[in-house]
Amino acid sequence: MEKKIIIATGNEGKMKEIRMILSDLGVPVLSLKEAGISAEIAETGNTFEENALIKAKTVAKLTKAVVLADDSGLEIDYLNREPGIYSARYLGEDTSYAVKNQTLLERMEGVPDAQRTARFVCVVAAAWEDQTATARGVMEGRIAYKPAGENGFGYDPILYLPEYGCTSAQISPEQKNEISHRGKAFCAIKEKIRDILR
Ligand code: IMP
Repeated sequence: MEKKIIIATGNEGKMKEIRMILSDLGVPVLSLKEAGISAEIAETGNTFEENALIKAKTVAKLTKAVVLADDSGLEIDYLNREPGIYSARYLGEDTSYAVKNQTLLERMEGVPDAQRTARFVCVVAAAWEDQTATARGVMEGRIAYKPAGENGFGYDPILYLPEYGCTSAQISPEQKNEISHRGKAFCAIKEKIRDILR
């Protein structure tokens, strides 16, 4: 096994965030592109764990490094945890988040606070040699009554964070990294792979 980490993502924003979190491991952290790997991977799983594992294991077959892959989404309890693993694909991959968010708000019309509970979920899978590990992180909130905020991306404007009194799109990127589902999941997986990278 090579003492380096490849992140199975093409998203530069995510890479920056993940590099910060993993920096104390003291090993190189590369994107797929930096590792010279190209892979089209279909997310055919039924859970965040399955999808993250599919991505990590597929890339791990192409390298001797430790591979990390994440899968994330928004779960709304009242809508039977929709859009869930289909968050990116909800209403079609090319539909704007303005429309996706508005549609979800309409589906939640008249639903009282107590039943508006929702969360961002992120699962990170690690794959190396013939081994795997996963870690899950969540950020709990409630579906807002209208979109608010310009920061972040995706469903951030409609997840209201009661502890902060604003939506996930109204906190700073630094603050979000500290409390986010993705931050928590990557911190947890880091501890699971620390020993094998020593
Ligand atoms: P993937 O994990 O890259 O497949 O993306 C999952 C989808 O979940 C994203 O396209 C967003 O729609 C949504 N999502 C995941 N994390 C966040 C977040 O932090 N804010 C807003 N939306 C998110």
